[in-house]
Amino acid sequence: MRAIAVERGETDPRVIEIEEPEPADGEVLVRTLRVGIDGTDHEVIGSNHGGYPEDEEFQILGHEAIGVVEDAGETDLEDGQLVVPTVRRPPGGDAHGSGGEPNEFFDHDEPDMAPDGEYVERGIAGAHGYMAEYFTSEPRYLVPVPEEFAEIGFLVEPISNSEKAFDLATAARSTFEWDPESAIVLGNGPLGLLTLAMFDAKGFDRSYCLGRRDRPDPTIDVIEKLGATYVDSRETPVDELPDAHEPMDFVYEATGYAPHAFETIDALAPNGVGVLLGIPGDWEFEIDGGRLHREFVLENKALLGSVNSHVPHFEAAVETLGEFPEWFTDAIVTHVFEPEDVDHAFQTGDDRIKVVVEFDDL
Ligand code: NAP
Ligand code: BGC
Ligand code: ZN
Repeated sequence: MRAIAVERGETDPRVIEIEEPEPADGEVLVRTLRVGIDGTDHEVIGSNHGGYPEDEEFQILGHEAIGVVEDAGETDLEDGQLVVPTVRRPPGGDAHGSGGEPNEFFDHDEPDMAPDGEYVERGIAGAHGYMAEYFTSEPRYLVPVPEEFAEIGFLVEPISNSEKAFDLATAARSTFEWDPESAIVLGNGPLGLLTLAMFDAKGFDRSYCLGRRDRPDPTIDVIEKLGATYVDSRETPVDELPDAHEPMDFVYEATGYAPHAFETIDALAPNGVGVLLGIPGDWEFEIDGGRLHREFVLENKALLGSVNSHVPHFEAAVETLGEFPEWFTDAIVTHVFEPEDVDHAFQTGDDRIKVVVEFDDL
């Protein structure tokens, strides 16, 4: 079967021919329909994040997938059911993430809270991903989705990352009466725009989205069509948001631009919360740590990091995706490529928002 992989020492993914995977006992065989590409995939092929499966000369990419159960085996799933796979698997398994020994985080169904070394991530770190005609998985890592999600279901995984971040952040404000009205997403990449649409579904009164692009730009059109305000970071740095617009009850960082983490503290309203999702490389710069520390304490602010997601967040994302207007998903899925067009799929620029590789349809 065809798979899209990057070989050790290379930075250009290409199509390779490999054996179709054999499901182990208790596993399901899934026929892949579509696999999305995000900023993390570009970091993986650039060797800036993640790593190859042990002893493999290549890594199959892709962690945002939608597929159809081809062979449910002895499991409770049914052939023909549409499913979205989660990303993390126990360490110590084979190159496809099968057969590892579950640790306490997997036993508690909270692998998204496992520290480094206690998991592999399919398509990202230590295990092959889903950019292949077929993949196998234990059913506990497959989330059923409705049939109308055949074309957009690959968006469930990125939305689930935002659902988890939202849960963590709001839990940090759950000990008092907190009624957030203003929210900003830092970043107008695919994760930022999906999160902005999620904010809309969650009913924030006023939302903003930060970018660094000139008009006309398709992401600014989407931001404004969602009823949000576009903020250009070249004119309004994040720490000047309270003066330029208003203090933010909720800040969601999805740029990977490390200074934003600290500028967020000034952007927040008293009692506000910021959640960081971007994954920057090492980056040194100066901050006034004393002033920011004081600001945190005296204004009861919170700042936290969030990575990955698990089944309950995927289920929440299925609900959220079902509430997105059709114009929105049409507007953000800008490019659909066949596997053979891999070179074009991994380019950047030319008004791309969300790029997807299509292996098959229903
Ligand atoms: P992306 O395509 O790289 O998007 C980042 C966006 O931020 C881009 O549109 C970029 O603008 C914008 N940006 C960067 N610096 C900026 C600045 N100084 N001012 C204004 N805008 C700025 O990545 P993505 O897929 O949307 O993901 C966003 C980040 O989250 C990445 O770092 C990714 O690795 C991470 N991520 C984390 C998780 C998690 O679970 N924690 C999940 C998914 C993704 P331009 O396009 O104009 O350059
Ligand atoms: C993926 C997450 C993953 C994170 C860190 C994101 O792009 O969507 O599932 O945990 O990268 O590798
Ligand atoms: Zn991702």
